[in-house]
Amino acid sequence: MKILVLNGVNLNLLGLREPALYGNNSYAELVKAIKAKAKEIGVKVKVKQFNSESKMVEAIQMTYGRYDGLIINPAAFTHTSVAILDAIKAVDIPTIEVHLTDVDNREDFRKISYVSLVAFEKISGKGFDGYLLALDKMKAKLAEKN
Ligand code: DQA
Repeated sequence: MKILVLNGVNLNLLGLREPALYGNNSYAELVKAIKAKAKEIGVKVKVKQFNSESKMVEAIQMTYGRYDGLIINPAAFTHTSVAILDAIKAVDIPTIEVHLTDVDNREDFRKISYVSLVAFEKISGKGFDGYLLALDKMKAKLAEKN
């Protein structure tokens, strides 16, 4: 089971970025936590972050034939990117959407999510734990398929 975890714009600034909302832990610590969880539950994981929408689209395209599941926090691209939605539709990969914060209880524009149209699950407001929960849920979903 190979899972790609993709993080969008500004998530590389975790720790210094609006700590009251996003916490004090760094992006490197997030990656470490995701890798430790993947090892614990016996799935292969690759974690990537892009500030560029086109690079994110390319990473999604590259999942075709290479990955079984996608866990994605598109960050601000969540609310704007039809391109990311279309890329996920094109490769037709089981997808979970993750947000550190509770996007449905912030500004109205954050309630709009294009990725939600294809994701089989949306986890928000659980901080780093949301990614770990997403790994468990993705493993269960992929096991169901096999
Ligand atoms: C975010 C929420 C988005 O609205 C925001 O633009 C982000 C991060 C989150 O993880 O809570 O950059 O996706």
